Amino acid sequence: MSEPTSYYRAAKTWFDIGALRIGSWEISLRRHAWEDHRLKEFYDRAATSWTRKTQRLGLDDAYGTLTAAVSTQTIDHPMKVLDIGIGTGVLSSALLRTLGRDIDLTGVDISPSMLEVAEDRLSSKCAALRLLQSDACDLPFADNSFDLIVCGHVVEHLCEPSDALREMLRVLRPGGQLLICITRNTIAGAAIQLMWRTQRASPKTAAGWLATSGFERIEIIELPKHTATSRLSCGYSAFKLR
Ligand SMILES: C[S@@+](CC[C@H](N)C(=O)[O-])C[C@H]1O[C@@H](n2cnc3c(N)ncnc32)[C@H](O)[C@@H]1O
Repeated sequence: MSEPTSYYRAAKTWFDIGALRIGSWEISLRRHAWEDHRLKEFYDRAATSWTRKTQRLGLDDAYGTLTAAVSTQTIDHPMKVLDIGIGTGVLSSALLRTLGRDIDLTGVDISPSMLEVAEDRLSSKCAALRLLQSDACDLPFADNSFDLIVCGHVVEHLCEPSDALREMLRVLRPGGQLLICITRNTIAGAAIQLMWRTQRASPKTAAGWLATSGFERIEIIELPKHTATSRLSCGYSAFKLR
């Protein structure tokens, strides 16, 4: 027998439906992410207008709040930072504003056009800048290489966000911090999900992804209410303790 609340639950969770049972029938929905080469093409095309789009969403302010959660521990070298899915460098720019000091920045992205814009934007602002075309799930770095990893709206593109999160844990040094922003399970988040074939996660689910990937001291960072980004996304801080 189907449960009487099935329809209600299905409507409530909208695109997060796994399977809907009606009597002896089961209707299931699965998300199909874009293939890697198509996603790369989309972002290559979006590169020149990306920064303007993010300004309309208030991403500068939202990332300002996220990066304000950076741990101010003393490090005796320029902080080694990795920005995963750096895009045009919006999140790294916010970090530079927050820290007010030089960082040794490495950025990776699958889109060469996004990386070109990031290079123009960031090259004069960092102590060192290295930009590489690379996949978040297969990072070309040794274990324990970075003091801080930042990642804005990237893992929701992946079938298995934990694949990228475990890679992040590997390249982060013990004591290092991750600041990450992920699309949330709101109606605005559903619009993004439809447009970009991404997934969205409640803060509880996203914090669960971080925990099962091995991160600890996980904190949810609500983004400023005056930004459209607050309705789309949520921020998280997490640490690699061992
Ligand atoms: C929504 S944009 C965010 C860009 C930037 N982090 C920001 O917040 O403005 C997602 C970025 O992640 C990149 N990306 C998507 N999948 C990726 C993957 N598997 N590995 C690395 N980068 C990826 C895209 O090319 C794009 O630049």
